[in-house]
Amino acid sequence: MTACRICQGSVHQFFDFGRQPLSDGFLRPGKTSGEFFYRLAVGVCRSCTMVQLMEEVPRERMFRADYPYHSSMSVVMREHFTGTARHLLETECRDGDPLVVEIGCNDGVMLRTVAQAGVRHLGVDPSRDVAELAAAKGVRVRIDFFEESLAREVAAAEGPAQVIYAANTMCHIPYLDSVFRGVDALLAPDGVFCFEDPYLGDVVERTSFDQIYDEHFYLFSATSVRAVAGRFGFDLVDVERLPVHGGEVRYTLARSGARRPSQRVEALVREETERRIAEISTLEQFATQVKRNVEDLASLLRRLQEDGARVAAYGATAKSATVTNYGGFGPDLIPVVYDSTPAKQGLLTPGSHIPVRPLEEFSRDYPDYALLFAWNHAGEIVEKEREFREQGGKWILYVPDLHVL
Ligand code: SAH
Ligand code: TMP
Ligand code: ZN
Repeated sequence: MTACRICQGSVHQFFDFGRQPLSDGFLRPGKTSGEFFYRLAVGVCRSCTMVQLMEEVPRERMFRADYPYHSSMSVVMREHFTGTARHLLETECRDGDPLVVEIGCNDGVMLRTVAQAGVRHLGVDPSRDVAELAAAKGVRVRIDFFEESLAREVAAAEGPAQVIYAANTMCHIPYLDSVFRGVDALLAPDGVFCFEDPYLGDVVERTSFDQIYDEHFYLFSATSVRAVAGRFGFDLVDVERLPVHGGEVRYTLARSGARRPSQRVEALVREETERRIAEISTLEQFATQVKRNVEDLASLLRRLQEDGARVAAYGATAKSATVTNYGGFGPDLIPVVYDSTPAKQGLLTPGSHIPVRPLEEFSRDYPDYALLFAWNHAGEIVEKEREFREQGGKWILYVPDLHVL
């Protein structure tokens, strides 16, 4: 029996994706031996409802010097984080000499706007290459893991933070107890701790099963976040649903009693209860739907191969590691995946060993079908690549179910 990483309650496993590689563990051609694998299985805590992985991958394996995910690759995400920074500056940073700390600042996609505004800030990120890209944008960065000891050090050196912010990073951190104690040590008495991550409600509703991979240790809901916040002396004071990355929620936390929770918190918790999103029966239905989606995708890929159609994939996402490795899709079915990230090009996808090629090669020689692994950026990509469809190309999507565009 696995104990809940948050409350020690018992965790009920509802899906096992089997042996999986590091989702961002791209490999050099010819250097595939000794690849690291772990077992990807996911469960729900019967006590606090937190959805979490059954096994933890050591953080140094995932967030290393050459971690290849660059947040600034998407125009939509750049705009999203510019707006986020402006909002935080306007609502939380109007008086005095505020400090904004970001956990997981990556290439500075959010903090560059804070830096440009001349507001004191610090980005914390253990992945050296992306942190250096942030520094090149004028962002102050500390290359390290945010946890209690580091937060105490920052508090001693720089004083309290008015805002502590994290996007797509809190769900990456199994040791949330240390992070919350760190936030407690660093946050100003009237400050906010604000984070946004993929939302369990959307994952269940849209069967976006590939949101489950090594780095996504947790899948949050308002119910589970409110419970974990309470254990560490914080209130969940606001929630906002966001359309990015296939559906996220931004959670705003404050010290207990410091701010009045908005009506939205109670409303979302109630909705989650009514929709039973963390109940075992719902999650088992989700599991059935996942198997169906992957089987449908497998039959389509095999049929296209038999028909001699040319298939490629678009977006060497971390998410797609779950799809290719669970589905058993290798270069025989998907000969190539195109991606805009220089740090991924020329390498092979983890586990499935599909070559990653630059986007320019996609438009130079369109395939008949493009499997959209970056389905969370569908609006942006389908628009940017409209010539592909104009020339007869078709997109394949597997979320919320298999369909061809
Ligand atoms: N905020 C960006 C990056 C998300 S990727 C965005 O939303 O696009 C997750 C980032 O978290 C990676 O850059 C990784 O290096 C970083 N990270 C992982 N564990 C961390 C920790 N304990 N403290 C700070 N950053 C961490
Ligand atoms: P993400 O879904 O985790 O954000 O990853 C998206 C991946 O897709 C990332 O490797 C960058 C790549 N990408 C493209 O290749 N073209 C694009 O237009 C966009 C938006 C992303
Ligand atoms: Zn629990």
